[in-house]
Amino acid sequence: MPKLIRLTRWALAALVFAFPAAAPAQGKPADNTQAERQQTQPYNNAPVWREVRKEGQEYVTTVKGRETGVLVQSAGETWRQIRNGPVTVWGGFAILIVVAVLAGIYFSFGPLKTHDKPTGRLMPRFTQFERWAHWTSAISFCVLAVSGLVMLFGKHVLLPVTGYTLFGWLASLLKNLHNFVGPVFLLSVIVMVPNLVRDNLPKSYDFNWFAKAWAMFARNEHVPSGRFNGGEKAWFWGCVVGLTLLSAVTGLILLFPNFDQTRATMQLTWIFHAISALLFMLVALGHIYVGTIGVEDAYQAMRSGYVDETWAKEHHEYWYNEMKSGARSAAGGAVPAGAPRAERK
Ligand code: HEM
Repeated sequence: MPKLIRLTRWALAALVFAFPAAAPAQGKPADNTQAERQQTQPYNNAPVWREVRKEGQEYVTTVKGRETGVLVQSAGETWRQIRNGPVTVWGGFAILIVVAVLAGIYFSFGPLKTHDKPTGRLMPRFTQFERWAHWTSAISFCVLAVSGLVMLFGKHVLLPVTGYTLFGWLASLLKNLHNFVGPVFLLSVIVMVPNLVRDNLPKSYDFNWFAKAWAMFARNEHVPSGRFNGGEKAWFWGCVVGLTLLSAVTGLILLFPNFDQTRATMQLTWIFHAISALLFMLVALGHIYVGTIGVEDAYQAMRSGYVDETWAKEHHEYWYNEMKSGARSAAGGAVPAGAPRAERK
């Protein structure tokens, strides 16, 4: 049956093409209707636009280029509903829930502390190069996250407060910032990752870490790990490598629309970009929590590059043993004069 319909359509189209005179007969009632409509509802061309909108219908236009004949692309409406529906609503709730859970962990259990007193002897943990690459990634990521959140939620959360003028200015500033900082973030991750791959390779004891991770936060229990624990390794491969790749590649497709991409390609790319970026932000909230207030003195590791031996022993025992036994060389060489010394709080 469908074959027959298609054939008929082709035949009809051929007919109209061959005998334009024939079409008026068909069109005549519509023209009349259109003319009548102009009388009763001037400028209301709804039937015309309904015709134009017909799924995948491509019309003739003098504008050269891909899909220029598609005046109204219906899939655009589907994209708009996904953007303003599940992506905005579920994405927004997910961020609020993660922030609430982290606040709950902090106010219920407090920061993770070492059991023993700091020795005052510091151990190099991150080289200057590693810290520079990290903070370039961290700062550019935060700029991308904030500007992305304003583009997604700004009109619901900020616009009612700022009003149109300020919001318009802010949103366009942040959109441009997003476009320029995106490549910086990607480059900084490309620079940061190779150096850290070796210490993020999975080890059997990582499974033990995952099994006991909750007890570590809830009961301040000690769980041995290598230079990076199971959680950091999952962050590294899942987010720093995986989600950077997905959000950056889709970001570049959106940033350079001059490769003849169709609207459908851009809409699908946007959906992957938004979802991968939201997932990245959700997990990064956990990383930032642990890297600032969640684990005492963790911040120092990436700030100064040094940690106290007690901290190293209690949080990364196998790495501590390797460093002490000389099985591996110190990342940053001797402790420089004036390096900060950990004080017991
Ligand atoms: C404000 C945001 C951030 C803060 C405060 C922060 C803090 C930290 C701290 C304190 C450490 C050291 C943890 C340790 O000694 O084991 C660390 C490690 C690390 N951070 Fe961040 N970070 C932030 C954002 C980011 C972002 C956006 C990325 C990547 C895109 C990132 C990637 C890493 C990596 C790869 C490590 C090493 C751990 C591993 O390789 O598994 N960080 N961060």
